[in-house]
Amino acid sequence: MKVLLIEATGNVGLRLVSALLTHGHNVVAHVRSAQKLESLLTESVHRQLSVIEGSALDANSIRTAILDKKCDAVVNSAGLAAVALWGKSDLPRIVAAVVEGVRQAGAERKKPLRVWFLGGMGALHFPGESSLLSDHVPILRDHCKNLALLKSLPPNTLDWSMLCPSNMDPESSNFTVPTKSSHTRLTASAQTPPLWKDSWLKNIPLIGKIIVIAMNMSRYGTTLEQNADFIATDLETLDSQYIGTQVGIIDASK
Ligand SMILES: NC(=O)c1ccc[n+]([C@@H]2O[C@H](COP(=O)([O-])OP(=O)(O)OC[C@H]3O[C@@H](n4cnc5c(N)ncnc54)[C@H](OP(=O)(O)O)[C@@H]3O)[C@@H](O)[C@H]2O)c1
Repeated sequence: MKVLLIEATGNVGLRLVSALLTHGHNVVAHVRSAQKLESLLTESVHRQLSVIEGSALDANSIRTAILDKKCDAVVNSAGLAAVALWGKSDLPRIVAAVVEGVRQAGAERKKPLRVWFLGGMGALHFPGESSLLSDHVPILRDHCKNLALLKSLPPNTLDWSMLCPSNMDPESSNFTVPTKSSHTRLTASAQTPPLWKDSWLKNIPLIGKIIVIAMNMSRYGTTLEQNADFIATDLETLDSQYIGTQVGIIDASK
């Protein structure tokens, strides 16, 4: 598949370059600094990319890149959510611009494009409920705002998914193609964290669900490489089971 990768210079973006190429995708990197990207990759990996300079806040630049390069799918790894409630981040404006650029390109093609966004674990549902984890533990609210935008889109606008990891650690800072990882593939589920450990403690008024979330949280740490590989594997087909939903993941082997 031909994939437009929006920003490739961050923690996830760099691993996505390696994972997408390893899975046989053609990669068009849409970055705000081509020079920075080149400095972060080996010559042999960089040579395999097509690079376009542009802003992730510019819907028209994204639309043009998709149409000119004939991309089939898009992955947005631009922006970083504010952790604290009072923190500021460009992420909601970036996601709004990406949605608009991809929507316009899909409308011109008369076919919605496949798009992966990165979210956070707080945008997943508390198992068995329609409330989000962030409704109980208010962190990373930008991801919830972005999820609300995606869910408000009319049908057949975007074939979107939002990957919702907890903390991601690096395995390595050598971005090789093919990738080398000693870790297993992730186990995933739509909407809720997979393999959630339920507890009667959730019934304690006011603090019960917070306790259960805290008990579970540390089990959901994964690596940046595992998440990049998850997206690259999913993009081997346009017929993904995760279209139109947020996706929880866990390293079930840990
Ligand atoms: N890392 C984690 O453990 C973790 C866990 C859960 C969820 N997430 C989510 O995953 C996503 C990616 O995280 P990350 O760790 O890869 O972040 P990161 O390392 O900070 O990378 C952010 C990327 O976004 C680009 N960027 C930042 N502001 C921009 C702007 N205004 N316009 C265009 N590009 C901009 C950066 O480009 P430059 O290099 O040019 O600055 C960089 O390529 C975020 O949404 C984050 O909230 C991360």
